[in-house]
Amino acid sequence: MTDGPMTDISRILTPVVEDDVEVAVDRTLRPKTLDEYIGQRELKANLSILLGAARQRGDAADHVLLHGPPGLGKTTLATIVARELGANIRYASGPAIERAGDLAAILTSLDERDVLFIDEIHRLNRAVEEILYPAMEDYALDVMIGKGPSARSLRLSLKPFTIVGATTRAGRISSPLRDRFGATYRLDFYDLADLTAIVVRSARLLGVELSPDGATAIARRGRGTPRVVNRLLRRVRDYAQIHGDGTVDAATADKALAALEIDDEGLDGTDRKLLAAIVQKFGGGPVGVQALAAVLAEEPETVEDVYEPFLLRLGFLDRTPQGRIATDGARQHLARLGFDVPPPRRGDAEQPALWDGTAVPDIGPTTGSTPGGRATDPPAG
Ligand SMILES: Nc1ncnc2c1ncn2[C@@H]1O[C@H](COP(=O)(O)OP(=O)(O)O)[C@@H](O)[C@H]1O
Ligand SMILES: [Mg+2]
Repeated sequence: MTDGPMTDISRILTPVVEDDVEVAVDRTLRPKTLDEYIGQRELKANLSILLGAARQRGDAADHVLLHGPPGLGKTTLATIVARELGANIRYASGPAIERAGDLAAILTSLDERDVLFIDEIHRLNRAVEEILYPAMEDYALDVMIGKGPSARSLRLSLKPFTIVGATTRAGRISSPLRDRFGATYRLDFYDLADLTAIVVRSARLLGVELSPDGATAIARRGRGTPRVVNRLLRRVRDYAQIHGDGTVDAATADKALAALEIDDEGLDGTDRKLLAAIVQKFGGGPVGVQALAAVLAEEPETVEDVYEPFLLRLGFLDRTPQGRIATDGARQHLARLGFDVPPPRRGDAEQPALWDGTAVPDIGPTTGSTPGGRATDPPAG
């Protein structure tokens, strides 16, 4: 069923860039101005004021922190910020700046009013981060000269510049760093209308023949994420080319997305596996993210940053201090798809009896022997 040049099916919805082709397409599809940037209206309105004011004063704009799940348009916005300021942009990323000297080299190379984009800024190491404080606050670089007792610190001045930081984890940024941003904006998942507009725009740029109902069909399964709808559009186009005349309508989109095992809520195999694990292996939860990550063979951070945000948004997942819980919505969704959905094993819920007394189950209680769960096994004998 899944013939054709499909990439790894289970990963089709990952809102993280996958390969070189995708990087190139990403760039083609990237809006270049705030006007072209669809959705995020409040953010755009505020950012537009910030940029307009800086332009009027002829100053470098305030430092801007963007946070939100992957694929929602943070890098795109950083590029737009530079363009709207008529400035150059340098791209860097937290884990790639290893030493304080690396950052110092970048900072001293910036021209007046340039933009320095730092992706994954929550992953900067301490030593590097400390260089950033005076740089952001006073456009100053403190360098140590010499060693031992004769060492002294020298303050160099930098040309005024703007940092645009991006992170999937606002909570992971240290407060001294967070305080040095003049503006912090949160990107939200896109609604259906905005996602549809993005699909239509991308189809036009890629020269894909797309009917309005085809656009909606793709947008509905797009996890509220521009990068995901753009990827789905390309997969559906491939399918339409091989199985039809290349035109994407709702029927082709539905078939292509079914072949990719994307369900009507936009969940892929990994999402369903995550929810099914909570429901089937962990009695509905609460279960820690480490245990879930182990089931999916993923890093806990990937589970938290990539998979969970949309499940939370759909209301399929709850995060509690004790761990993750699959909601009734998730149970109903899984049940509709034919998953085995045992009743939740929560202290507070009204539990159906393990058996009604008319027949003794010969396979033992289904809620027993759960890894990491509470002991529910009755004493033997
Ligand atoms: N508001 C938007 N309007 C149109 N396309 C967008 C928008 N935001 C993101 N995109 C598309 O989604 C892709 C991913 O965006 P990107 O900025 O790389 O996300 P992030 O940096 O948050 O992971 C971009 O290539 C762009 O084509
Ligand atoms: Mg990015």
